[in-house]
Amino acid sequence: MTISIICTNKNPEPWYLALKEIDPSLDIQIWPDENNKSVIEFALCWKQPEGILQDYPNLKCICSMGAGIDHLLSDSFFPKNLPVIRLIDPSLAQSMFEYIYTAAMYYLREFDLYQRQKNQIIWEQHQPKAISQTTIGIMGLGKLGEYCARKLSQAGFNIVGWARTKKQIEDVKTYTSEQLEIFVSQTDILICLLPLTPQTVGILNSELFNITPKNSYLINVARGEHLVESDLITALNTGQLKGACLDVFTTEPLPQDHPFWTNDKIVITPHCSSITDPVSVAPQIVQNYRLMQSCKPLMNEVDLQRGY
Ligand code: GLV
Repeated sequence: MTISIICTNKNPEPWYLALKEIDPSLDIQIWPDENNKSVIEFALCWKQPEGILQDYPNLKCICSMGAGIDHLLSDSFFPKNLPVIRLIDPSLAQSMFEYIYTAAMYYLREFDLYQRQKNQIIWEQHQPKAISQTTIGIMGLGKLGEYCARKLSQAGFNIVGWARTKKQIEDVKTYTSEQLEIFVSQTDILICLLPLTPQTVGILNSELFNITPKNSYLINVARGEHLVESDLITALNTGQLKGACLDVFTTEPLPQDHPFWTNDKIVITPHCSSITDPVSVAPQIVQNYRLMQSCKPLMNEVDLQRGY
């Protein structure tokens, strides 16, 4: 039985080393250089080239190299009869919280304004809005969303959350699908942590921005496809949104001539809000590999119908 690491946009080497560190006897190969694809039963994948999984006749399980699986399913030849598992890791959730907290505070304490003042050598104070007077809305209350909601609430923010189904989280007022308007109408800071599914593509659009309180802030740490990019530019130009912090984009790396690069109201980071650490997730990968070998139920299996 053999594992293959099949990835683009990620370096397979640290993953190989982290897995070998746990169990040096594991047979691990790296795409495209496997010596025999028919012995591969477990594929560790990130943005595999379209159709490539068809080359593995004895594949039994596919494991995402991240929290999301949309990058797997966008392959129209993806073998939908196989179990798919994803990575769930406390360090991913904490890293996401740290990113969001930083972005929220950057907006709240107007660091962009002070940077502009510095460039003009201006010493001028502005009374900041207090955390306790600020409502953060989190779209998506899965593992990451729920963790961030709790931590931001502990930091003193007023938190509202929105998810497809009703969620119970202490000190968080939660809303379901059909309550999007009432949810968004409260959010000084709107955070997207949704899975990418046909229902959530383009959900961050003009219609939504027009319901947010004026001068609110958008943080997108989910997928670029959640956002209608031209609608964001319009919302920033009209002042409906004060700014945005974007970590994900429809095309990554963000093309050099993309208008976001030169927009002063947009903070851009290169999909780094929560980078999977191979050493931290290797134990759960090996555990799932062994469960697969002994035909036992897998951990963190994804519902392919639901898409997350
Ligand atoms: C990152 O975007 C992930 O899905 O882990």
